[in-house]
Amino acid sequence: MSTGSGSARPRVAILTDETGWHTARLRRALARRGFEGRCADLADCRFDTSRTGTGIVIPGFGRELPVAAIVRGIAGGSLEQITKRLGILHGLRELGVPVYNDARAIERSVDKSMTSFLLHGAGIPTPAAWALESEAQARRLVMAETAAGRCLVLKPLFGSQGKGLQQVGLVDGRAVPLPDLAPLGGLAYLQRFVSQPEGPGAPGFDWRVLVVGGRAVAAMKRVSGHWVRNVAQGARCIPAALTPPVAALAQGAAAALGMDYAGVDLVPDPAAPGGAQVLEVNGVAAWRGLQSVTDLDIAQAMVDDLLQRRLGLDLTAAACAG
Ligand SMILES: Nc1ncnc2c1ncn2[C@@H]1O[C@H](COP(=O)(O)OP(=O)(O)O)[C@@H](O)[C@H]1O
Ligand SMILES: [Mg+2]
Repeated sequence: MSTGSGSARPRVAILTDETGWHTARLRRALARRGFEGRCADLADCRFDTSRTGTGIVIPGFGRELPVAAIVRGIAGGSLEQITKRLGILHGLRELGVPVYNDARAIERSVDKSMTSFLLHGAGIPTPAAWALESEAQARRLVMAETAAGRCLVLKPLFGSQGKGLQQVGLVDGRAVPLPDLAPLGGLAYLQRFVSQPEGPGAPGFDWRVLVVGGRAVAAMKRVSGHWVRNVAQGARCIPAALTPPVAALAQGAAAALGMDYAGVDLVPDPAAPGGAQVLEVNGVAAWRGLQSVTDLDIAQAMVDDLLQRRLGLDLTAAACAG
């Protein structure tokens, strides 16, 4: 694999639809290790097999390939556009370029039903979940769960930032039926709701745990009076110690999805083994909120993991030589 010529620093592609705080942190972390981080939008990357060469063109890299790619953001688009963007990530892997996270891992985590399936299979405590195309079946399920006194969360399959979540079933003692599925692409992804004893003086919380290279490295609590506790929905980030059971659950979840790094969302549940359930796993996780409550340089931890584990770099030797 070509890594650029002369004395130029080897270049890592930061694949993102948005440059800003996260990309600046990654570029700085890479520069500290002698690499150049160069941003490119996956929407602008293309397949081109008209000439000899790799068949993939990444703007800013000329005819060369990056030594590695970090996936920081994939913009929404049509099924065709997303297929091509993920195809570029698959293609880079086929060409021997380490992609952080790999396209397969990103696909598993972006699809919430696949996440539920894999967590379930790995024996990680996670709420029961269903993915149904039949509206009649979904209605019957919601009716049965309502009769059993349970609440469900209906989520967009590819959702993020707490957008579009709805409670159905028995919600605060009231039966809430399934809404029209057309705005959800004709798919009902439903997950049993994990309730917390909350009140005005005691808001509920989630844990967000960051796993890097198989190890849980930082955690926070997201506290909110609303049951959707995303930072984007106004939840407050507060520092949290990484307890061994929660760390083990997060690490198990990241491993079940084959993630290099992952932002794992958990909710407390005293009845579950480990005292929590994993709600979802983020394979293109933002970390600005978590960085605000931890001393660990998160971008550096990710970059160092990529360089050491995926590129085989000996950072202790590099530090000595540098
Ligand atoms: N099954 C559930 N039980 C309890 N709270 C939930 C459940 N599902 C989602 N939530 C709340 O909504 C938030 C967003 O849900 P999540 O599945 O992480 O989707 P997103 O990708 O939008 O972040 C969670 O962090 C949690 O606070
Ligand atoms: Mg989440």
